[in-house]
Amino acid sequence: MVPDVGDEELNTIREVFSTGFLTEGVTTQNFEKAIAEYVGVKHAIAVTSCTTALHTVLECLDVRGQEVIIPDYTYPATAEAVILAGGKPVLADVDLEIMNMTENILDEAYDEAMSVFIPVSWAGVPLERGIYKKAKELGLECLEDAACSLGAKIDSDYVGKLADYSCFSFHPRKVITTGEGGMITTDDDEMAEKCHSFKHFGMKGSSFETIGTNYKLSNVLSAIGLVQMKKIEKIIASRIEKAKIYHDLLSKIGGIKPAYVGKGTRQTFQSYTCYVEKDNYRDKIRNALSENNIQSQIGTYALHLEPAYKQLRKVGSLKNSELLFKNGLTLPLHKDLTLEDQERVCHIIASTLSS
Ligand SMILES: Cc1ncc(COP(=O)(O)O)c(C=O)c1O
Repeated sequence: MVPDVGDEELNTIREVFSTGFLTEGVTTQNFEKAIAEYVGVKHAIAVTSCTTALHTVLECLDVRGQEVIIPDYTYPATAEAVILAGGKPVLADVDLEIMNMTENILDEAYDEAMSVFIPVSWAGVPLERGIYKKAKELGLECLEDAACSLGAKIDSDYVGKLADYSCFSFHPRKVITTGEGGMITTDDDEMAEKCHSFKHFGMKGSSFETIGTNYKLSNVLSAIGLVQMKKIEKIIASRIEKAKIYHDLLSKIGGIKPAYVGKGTRQTFQSYTCYVEKDNYRDKIRNALSENNIQSQIGTYALHLEPAYKQLRKVGSLKNSELLFKNGLTLPLHKDLTLEDQERVCHIIASTLSS
């Protein structure tokens, strides 16, 4: 992914430099306001990454010693945040097509000892609306790992206002970037105050009432974020347009399924991840693309297969997660990608699959 940053971002960094105030201040507060307004929530709390955003919420919910349901198919950060906060991640499977957890999977994974659930809207595919309702019925706090999903919508509702708490990433591979950065969104006044204090050394008023961290986001990075927020709709529209082109080209090739497209939702296509149906061909395709100087990625990880997470409790067989880890293929999708580039990528895929 080539980040969409340029002169406007550079100029705004210069403006922050000219104030002499580089740490978190008014610019970060303005960035928080911009995200809260965009998503449609009362509070947005800027932090240093999505990982530290998740950690902040989990510490403030106090999950120490408790089991927390997460999908097996996710980036390790989801599990790391739970472990950092003293919780015990429990790994559940995802739907093979949607690549996310569903209402039914949550129902099967749930047991009464659990109080927090972290669904991941992976690749910028929104969750099913019903999963939020199901989490409520089960009495679970729902913390969405929306690292890839700023700007994703279900009908007219933005991801970030559907869960009790949502966490976004501004890593350069995400929809908008600040280099590194993250944001928590919520309508809960008390939790917003706690999260704010946690990122600020545990400070409340002029005293330190709890143990905190320094997860503040600097004005320099927030200034980049403010410029990026002016571009977000254009960035997403362009990604959707390029995803449609991939969809049409890949639909004509046997042995590969284009990326999932949900009805009544807007995806960000933060990752355009298709599924290689022909057995053992994903890596052959990746090698063929690489020989032509085209970068591709896997989808994401099946955590239970990684050494650090082997010991975690699992529910069910996790077979969809394993299949996605083995066969998921993320194609290049960035601002400089041309129609000719996309045709070339698909031509290489077609000829590899027919070999
Ligand atoms: C689903 C998911 N959650 C969390 C993260 C971590 O985000 P950050 O790099 O902002 O900590 C990532 C990064 O790729 C991710 O894909």
